[in-house]
Amino acid sequence: QREDGLRPRRLADYIGQGELKQVLGIAVEATRGRGEALDHVLLYGPPGLGKTTMALVLAEELGVRCRITSAPALERPRDIVGLLVNLQPNELLFIDEIHRLNRVAEELLYPAMEDFRLDLTVGKGTTARTRSLPIAPFTLVGATTRAGALSSPLRDRFGLIQRLEFYGLDDLQAIVQRAAGLLQVALDAEAALEVARRCRGTPRIANRLLRRVRDVAAVGGHGRVSAALVQEALSLHRVDARGLDAHDRRLLTLMLESYGGGPVGLDTLAAGLGEDPATLEAVVEPYLLQQGLLQRTPRGRVLTDAGRAHLAAA
Ligand code: ADE
Repeated sequence: QREDGLRPRRLADYIGQGELKQVLGIAVEATRGRGEALDHVLLYGPPGLGKTTMALVLAEELGVRCRITSAPALERPRDIVGLLVNLQPNELLFIDEIHRLNRVAEELLYPAMEDFRLDLTVGKGTTARTRSLPIAPFTLVGATTRAGALSSPLRDRFGLIQRLEFYGLDDLQAIVQRAAGLLQVALDAEAALEVARRCRGTPRIANRLLRRVRDVAAVGGHGRVSAALVQEALSLHRVDARGLDAHDRRLLTLMLESYGGGPVGLDTLAAGLGEDPATLEAVVEPYLLQQGLLQRTPRGRVLTDAGRAHLAAA
């Protein structure tokens, strides 16, 4: 991935998510003292907030390897069996989009998580038997944008369940300044704050915007990047003053122009945008809700006064 070089590697370098760091820091320290595998960890929240990064940081802190996969890559039983039997003691297995695991994979995981054991069926028909195979103690780190989509037996097997939050401006500014240092971009503090304001509370987007700003600066022959240059570069990429992209604005505009600001159902909006409702709910809406531009009500989504004002100003 592009962002690899920018990922923090240690807990001390991971900016923001104070509660998450505190909880996991304590668990890591206690676990290291015992020489055991860390309890299974479920990380949930909108994309780009650092779930994969945190899994890699945990592995680094524990001094073990982290295997990375995602549920859609575990289609056949042998995919997950292969990963589990090859784990060394106390290693991490990171499964992204864990809410998308199929039934068979999920049922293989239960005894693996609980008793470090695989229950395999060998043979077919009347000669089929179950064989139990011990595996090394390991830590499953699951990540999902939709904790509610996990079955409760799976969710209940995680000892640590933590939500990642959108980052505040100060943390984002610090993240941008750190990344600018690593990318060797000379960025004013004001310019870093301007990127922070426009990244939807999301470090992955901040880093992406920073690269676009760097391009504009390089092509324009600018040595130092100012706040004005950030504004110029990002309006070129249709990111507005609040960090909303064309996608976000299309949703808000549809609500206003076709449904008078709502209430309107999620499915109706998704159909109007040609989107999958679950993606709209887990990926697009959370930031708009957090910014108070949109509300969820029992009768559907409603555009708030702030949402209307934002569209009027844009
Ligand atoms: N880069 C991306 N996310 C980060 C974070 N939370 N802390 C430091 N650098 C980051």
